[in-house]
Amino acid sequence: MSRILVLHGPNLDLLGRREPEIYGHTTLADIDARLKELAAADGHELETLQSNAEHVLVERLQQLLETPVDFLIINPAAFSHTSIALRDVLTATRVPFIEVHVSNILAREAFRRHSYLSELATGVICGCGAAGYEYAYRAALSKLGA
Ligand code: DQA
Repeated sequence: MSRILVLHGPNLDLLGRREPEIYGHTTLADIDARLKELAAADGHELETLQSNAEHVLVERLQQLLETPVDFLIINPAAFSHTSIALRDVLTATRVPFIEVHVSNILAREAFRRHSYLSELATGVICGCGAAGYEYAYRAALSKLGA
C-alpha cells in the first residue's frame, strides 16, 4: 500500500465555474472523488487538500518530515509562478512529486510559463484538463512500482 497526497492551490475550488473554456467543467469534488475511487480500488491511501492560503499548503508539506507520504501530486495553481516558499518546503521534504496543471501553461500568458516547482518535479503534466490528475496518479504508481 502506498500513501499519496494530492494538494490543490488557490482558486482550484472554483473548477467547473471558473473560465470553463480554459479549465473545463469538471469540479474539484469530481476530481478528488475520482482519485479516491482509483486509489481505493488499487488498495492505496490517498488524501486530498485544497487551500487558497500558501501557509496552509506549506504547513501540510512540512508535516511530511514527521509523517512522510510515498508520493505527492500537486497543482500549485498561481503559487507555481510565485512561491519560493513552496519550492523550499518541497526541497526540505524531498518528497517525489508530479506537478499538474489543468491548462497548458506554456500556451498562455508569459508569466505562467515559469514554475518555481517544475525543476524539482519528477514530472509535469499540463494541458490535459482534469484528466491530468488521473494521468499523474497512474504515473505516480508506475514510479513507485506499485
Ligand atoms: C493552473 C494554471 C495556473 O497558471 C493558474 O494560476 C491556475 C491553474 C492550471 O491548473 O492550469 O490557477 O495551475
